[in-house]
Amino acid sequence: MERTLSIIKPDGVSRNLIGDIVSRFEKAGLRVAAMKKIQLTEKTAGDFYGVHRERPFFKDLVSFMISGPVVVMALEGDNAIAKNRELMGATNPKEAAPGSIRADFAESIDANTVHGSDGPDTAAEEIAFFFRPDEIL
Ligand code: CMP
Repeated sequence: MERTLSIIKPDGVSRNLIGDIVSRFEKAGLRVAAMKKIQLTEKTAGDFYGVHRERPFFKDLVSFMISGPVVVMALEGDNAIAKNRELMGATNPKEAAPGSIRADFAESIDANTVHGSDGPDTAAEEIAFFFRPDEIL
């Protein structure tokens, strides 16, 4: 059993895609262990993506992530991290595999509909960033 963090980004929430995306996770055998809809701020989005602070796309990434509410989830299941990444498809929607969330919905590399943790250490850190232990069930 493994856990990973998933975010439905503002472009997914604003286009009413929450149900479709969660359904893909559930159909693939992942369970929603925690979930909330929140509005990120410049501070919370900047801290969450702190590892990218020096990258040229950081400013655009933060302003996109605070452009509307997001849904954050802890997903759990066998191989949850890899399974979630497969369901999402590549970061750049132009390179995302057919049938993946980003291939089906993403509009650009910033408005790429979903975020998912990239490994066990980041998954633990990212889940703890948004959820207290007693909120994960
Ligand atoms: P995400 O998985 O949320 O992690 C960081 C985000 O930065 C990424 O998805 C993209 O939305 C965004 N981003 C914008 N430009 C790039 C880039 N050149 N390389 C990686 N991520 C980028």
